[in-house]
Order: sequence, then structure tokens, then C-alpha cells
Amino acid sequence: MRIPVRPRNGPYTPAVRQQHQLNCDWRYSTINQAEDRKVHFDILTLFPKMFESPFGESILKRAIEQGLVTIAIHNIRDYAAGKHRVTDDAPYGGGGGMIMKPEPIVRAVESILESENAPQVPIILLSPQGRPFTQRVAWDLAEHPHILLICGRYEGVDERVRELLASDEISIGDYVLTGGEIPAMVIVDAVTRLIPGVLGDPVATSRDSHSDGLLEYPQYTRPPVFKGHAVPEILVSGNHAAVELWRRRQALRRTCERRPDLLDKAELTAQDRASLDALTREGA
Ligand code: ADE
Repeated sequence: MRIPVRPRNGPYTPAVRQQHQLNCDWRYSTINQAEDRKVHFDILTLFPKMFESPFGESILKRAIEQGLVTIAIHNIRDYAAGKHRVTDDAPYGGGGGMIMKPEPIVRAVESILESENAPQVPIILLSPQGRPFTQRVAWDLAEHPHILLICGRYEGVDERVRELLASDEISIGDYVLTGGEIPAMVIVDAVTRLIPGVLGDPVATSRDSHSDGLLEYPQYTRPPVFKGHAVPEILVSGNHAAVELWRRRQALRRTCERRPDLLDKAELTAQDRASLDALTREGA
């Protein structure tokens, strides 16, 4: 698939923007499926220090050290004009709070992407008004070699950032945070663990909750009995087929009990449906 996308020269007109958004539709993209794929994130924020600890620990740290993921944090203030480098202002029409000005954000994105060879970069604005972030979206994003995340702050971001720049807008849930930094971390984390080589166990992500539209089955480790609670016998039986069947049924049961809404979209076999019917008869 050819992805021409955002023009470096010339105005970012509504028609060009529409084309950019279509071209950034990673749901249909096949551009980063090599086994040795890597992802680069550019993150625009007013609070770069917030990212130090989450990206400096554990799996993300190792992925960065291995070069499987690269992350560049850009301080939006560095792109603001004037002695005071002002990045926000009062809203037109009145009302409380401050709005992030468009110029520093647009300047930052133009400067970051100008030096890029590959122009097909999703430009994602984090906001509570965006489309919901799901495991499906994480998979889709993990196909992209380069992703740019814009962290909104204060009462919001000037609408021109959406009109002129963003190819997508993502929310991590129906609640309002103080800014887009934590959502950006969530996205980086969820996408990074899908990059081949990041997790020790290459099939781990296929067992995840949500990987097939179901919640994950219960997991146990030693000791076999803890405070009177024993590990289900089937798990120590050595019968792999029976274990797989048990796990699948537990995943179905858990999803049925906790998130029945997920069942409509889950990939279910005839046997799954029979198990669900049995669960319903049991009154689960
Ligand atoms: N900024 C503030 N709240 C947010 C949310 N729920 N998702 C993404 N960005 C946000």
C-alpha cells in the first residue's frame, strides 16, 4: 500500500488533510510487518520529565536499550515564540481555563517531521474526545514504524491543531485526566509490548486479555495451596488438551460474568458457543 500523506510543502488544506487521514488509516496498513520491525515515537509535551521514570524501568527500558523502540520527547515550549515562550492563552468567547496555542504545536510537528524521510506518520492528538483506545488500535499502531503523539493540557487544545494537523484523536477512556501525558505513556506501553522481541515469550501477547476479544483465564503459580486455596487440579494434571479446554472455558466464563458486552465482537467457535450456552444454563 502506498502512503503519500502529509505534504511537506504547500498548505494543509481540508482536502489534503482528508487524504492524510485516509492514508494514515492503519487498520488497512501493511507497512511495518517485518519480523525485525521497530517503532519510533515522537512525543510532544509541556512536561517532558513525566516520561523519565515510566520509560526508564523494566520492559520499556529494555526495549529502548535494545533499539526495538526509540522515543524522542519534545518540549512544546521550545517551539513557542517570544521571551516568555507562552504556550497557552485564554479562550475566545470567555469561560474559564487556558487553551493550548496552536502555533508552538504546529511548529514542533513541522520541525520534527520535516527532517523525516518517511512522511506517512500518524499524528495523534490525545484527548478525552478521541476514539477509544483498544487492543485492536494498539495492534494497528504497532504496524507503524513512526508515530507522533501530541499531549494536550489545560482546558484543551486550540481546534486548529485538529483541523490542520491531527490525523487521529485517541482517548484512553471516558474520564478526564490532567493531560495527555499518561495516555501517551499508555499507548507507548501497549504498542511496545507488541513489537517482536520486546517480550521474552513471543506468544505471550496472543494469550492476553482482549487478544481474541475475551478476558484472560485465571493464572496460578507455586505454591499449590495458599491459605487454604488450592490450584485447580486440571492445571497440574499434565493433560495439555484438557488444560487448554479449561482455560478457554474460564476465559468465556470470566468474560460472560464481567464484560458480557465483549462477547458480541469476540471470535467464537461452535464449541465456545456451546460452552456459553452451558454457562447460561448454570446461571453464570
Ligand atoms: N487527556 C485528558 N483525559 C484524557 C483521556 N481520557 N484520554 C486521552 N487524553 C486525555
